[in-house]
Amino acid sequence: MTTGPVAGPAAVAGDPDRDDTDRLLAELPPAPAVWCSGLRKRYRRRTAVDDVSFSVGRGEVVGLLGPNGAGKTTVIKILLGLVRPDAGEVLLLGRPGRDPRARARVGYLPELFRYQPWLTAAEVLTLHCRLAGVPVPARERGECLALVGLADRAGDRVGGFSKGMQQRLGLAVALVARPELVVLDEPTSALDPLGRADVRDLLLSLRERGVAVLLNSHLIGEVERVCDRVVILDRGRVAAAGTLAELLGARELRLRLGAVGDRARQRLAAAGRLTHSGDWYTVMLPPEEDPATVPDLVVDLIGLGVRVHAVEPGRISLEERLLDILRTGPGGGQR
Ligand SMILES: Nc1ncnc2c1ncn2[C@@H]1O[C@H](COP(=O)(O)OP(=O)(O)OP(=O)(O)O)[C@@H](O)[C@H]1O
Ligand SMILES: [Mg+2]
Repeated sequence: MTTGPVAGPAAVAGDPDRDDTDRLLAELPPAPAVWCSGLRKRYRRRTAVDDVSFSVGRGEVVGLLGPNGAGKTTVIKILLGLVRPDAGEVLLLGRPGRDPRARARVGYLPELFRYQPWLTAAEVLTLHCRLAGVPVPARERGECLALVGLADRAGDRVGGFSKGMQQRLGLAVALVARPELVVLDEPTSALDPLGRADVRDLLLSLRERGVAVLLNSHLIGEVERVCDRVVILDRGRVAAAGTLAELLGARELRLRLGAVGDRARQRLAAAGRLTHSGDWYTVMLPPEEDPATVPDLVVDLIGLGVRVHAVEPGRISLEERLLDILRTGPGGGQR
């Protein structure tokens, strides 16, 4: 072994180039919570996942949507190393998906699960923290049960838990080991409306703390309320992806008007595609809307002698857009 000036570790530690590299690396923004590219999976002749690529930034809440059998759960299992893809790559928190150091910082609520029925809720959390190798004090584990509304059931065996209570415990398990990324496969399918609202608040507080969330749910309204971005899967492929603003695009404006003459009608139609029913007029505004569009329209209408009773902004819902995309393809229904 040589003992030249750059060969030993001591020499490397003092190497100005290496110091620069370390400083540069430390200054780099953290790697995305999830990055995957070209994921494919076939089960016999059936293609479950076909060239799926997307990412989830740190502190971002991303919704994975799509009909039954679209491949959502398979994608999630590939990300977590539970299903081996036929092709594609996964990085979790900047490390290969199968690296245990990455997995230890990821919380996961599976779609279908059963905990050992003879354990109490508190014991399930203790066991999980031990398996994850993350020492979490008993007080913090208790707080986690309280967060999902199970504080008074901590000492009860999970064999006697209702479906919704099992799902709440599953959420606690996903959250207890201080994850940097939380992956939830239908977290609220068994929850009552109050429980769903609690989960919504919980997701928003995770985002505030910089925890990234990948969430799969059929409750589109819920996804629309909490997600920064959505990825829509259809028959294993990404049918559409983007922020809610990008996906929902066109906004509508609803006006209740009286004394609308021909010139006023022309003015309304100039603002966007016009429909009307009785005294309600709906204008589809273009996606990149000028902030002056609405006030200018109202001033002009009044100038044309129109009586303006109401002006309401509206937006097509994510559910409508999702149905559009699934029925007619990504470009479909774009107004
Ligand atoms: N272990 C398996 N063996 C064979 N086929 C499978 C397996 N797992 C999934 N599939 C198939 O892969 C496709 C995608 O299934 P997946 O569970 O990912 O759908 P999903 O989008 O999660 O649906 P859902 O909304 O019903 O949960 C389906 O056609 C399913 O039958
Ligand atoms: Mg599923």
